[in-house]
Amino acid sequence: MSPKPLDDGGIIINKKEIKRGDPVSSGNILSLLAARDGFVSGAFLSRELNISRTAVWKKIAALKREGYQIEASTRKGYRLLSHKACYGKPGIQSLLKTEFFGRDMRFYESVESTNNVLKGLANAGAAHGTVVIANGQTRGRGRLGREWNSVAGKGIWMSVLLRPQLHPARVQAITLAAAVAVCRAIEPLLDKKPGIKWPNDILLGGGKVCGILTELSAEAERVSWVIAGIGLNTHFAPEDFSPDLKDKATSLIQHLKKGGSLDRTWLAAEILNQFEQVYEEYLENGPDSMLMEWRQRSVTLKRMVELVQGTERIRALALDIGEDGRLRIRLEDGSIREIFSGEISLSYD
Ligand code: BTN
Repeated sequence: MSPKPLDDGGIIINKKEIKRGDPVSSGNILSLLAARDGFVSGAFLSRELNISRTAVWKKIAALKREGYQIEASTRKGYRLLSHKACYGKPGIQSLLKTEFFGRDMRFYESVESTNNVLKGLANAGAAHGTVVIANGQTRGRGRLGREWNSVAGKGIWMSVLLRPQLHPARVQAITLAAAVAVCRAIEPLLDKKPGIKWPNDILLGGGKVCGILTELSAEAERVSWVIAGIGLNTHFAPEDFSPDLKDKATSLIQHLKKGGSLDRTWLAAEILNQFEQVYEEYLENGPDSMLMEWRQRSVTLKRMVELVQGTERIRALALDIGEDGRLRIRLEDGSIREIFSGEISLSYD
């Protein structure tokens, strides 16, 4: 199959899942090649990774099939000709600084929904930190039973499996952590600050650029797994959105710093790097610092909002967020309510 160029400069060639249990991922080889401008000998790679020269050769061949341009010389070894990463498992893994997140990664060209794929893996015992990423989703799912528009090549569609020792009532904090992590990852690329709209939308210039769908399996006191599904619009042009989304949705490419570039491989890895950091910090030190950052990044708090719950529409002032993700609001009659789910609009400025 001939390479199909993507708009972020990556190349996708008939991506297949790389089997679990691979002791040395192609991402390791890629990191070693990328660390040098010149040739890296097969002997060095074999020694560093503790695999045979034939195994090195096979990994290189696999990377070439993924679209990486690698020169091979019998005398000198291997040289990475272009540092442009292909959107796929080896490129993303080569940029990870995590201990758990993304160490087991499944990358697909297309799936119905990465959350659904990961749910199957979670129920079969997949490890904490397992990640499913797809170039496109055919039935991406959003909150409140909505569809999530997941066109191939136009976004990062990924799900992360967590196995926290948390009471189910505290799981919502993970969604807050994911939103903070995505903001941290995208902010350096942008000409404006991203904002978080309760419960977990990330907005840029008023349009939604990212949504997070958190799902869990739990008993009364114990969480079995949590899946944080992240949908981040990267390469949509305004006209790519359907008429009903045109005024509500946006995409990173429309808000880049002058001269800035956007690489999904780097960004997917960076989201995982940041997410693990925020998550670990939360587990070790409690919610305070994560909540403080969420509050600073919030575009909801201290503003008048309109809350839509079923057929009810309520005007209120958004006061604060709790660790359990509840939004505290003051209604126009002065009464205080805590809301756990629903949709708010910020139209009442
Ligand atoms: C929302 O409605 O705001 C949440 C959208 C979440 C979309 C992501 S894309 C990756 C993962 N797989 C899905 O089917 N949904 C989530």
